[in-house]
Amino acid sequence: MIADTDVRVFHVVSDEDVEILRQIRNGTVEAGTYSHNNEIISPEQQARWWAANWGTANAWYIEVDGEPAGFALLTLLPPEILEDGLPRRIEASATTTAGVLPKFSGRGLATRLMQLLEASTGLPLAACARLDNPVGMHLHRPEAGWYEVRRDEVNAYYRREATT
Ligand SMILES: CC(C)(COP(=O)(O)OP(=O)(O)OC[C@H]1O[C@@H](n2cnc3c(N)ncnc32)[C@H](O)[C@@H]1OP(=O)(O)O)[C@@H](O)C(=O)NCCC(=O)NCCS
Repeated sequence: MIADTDVRVFHVVSDEDVEILRQIRNGTVEAGTYSHNNEIISPEQQARWWAANWGTANAWYIEVDGEPAGFALLTLLPPEILEDGLPRRIEASATTTAGVLPKFSGRGLATRLMQLLEASTGLPLAACARLDNPVGMHLHRPEAGWYEVRRDEVNAYYRREATT
């Protein structure tokens, strides 16, 4: 585990932060272990996504000795609406993703980023991890309230109940 003094966490609030986030995320895709998208993201794609998602997405990045090392992303989901206009049972209100550059792996950073995501909201959370990504699966720790709801041929799907 890295000593606290080596590690700084930044909330993504500016275009410069969004670009740092993109570079970290692109540095983590080589293993192809994300459930949804393992493509390299261009600056234009990143800027477009964030322009559309400021307000529903919250992200942080983590630096070790001043060097970008990992990120965490929380994306809010609207409640589903029934035909009569009443909100349906909310199955998940935010999804989580985390990534750590290979150079910094195995040092507890992703666990720390998950704890940050978990503490950032009381909303119910949803996530998934590929079955061939045991570390990604392990990040959804029962001690932190995560439980597996189902799996298909590719992914395990997790939930964490509201905490407020
Ligand atoms: C997956 C990833 C985020 C892990 O980051 P990391 O900083 O190396 O993870 P940590 O050091 O916090 O370790 C996570 C846990 O996995 C455990 N672990 C390591 N190897 C493992 C294995 N083969 N099987 C199960 N658990 C394992 C570690 O022991 C640790 O658990 P512990 O704290 O209970 O001991 C990082 O490798 C990554 O970014 N990969 C590419 C993107 C990705 O897959 N993201 C997750 C999508 S769900």
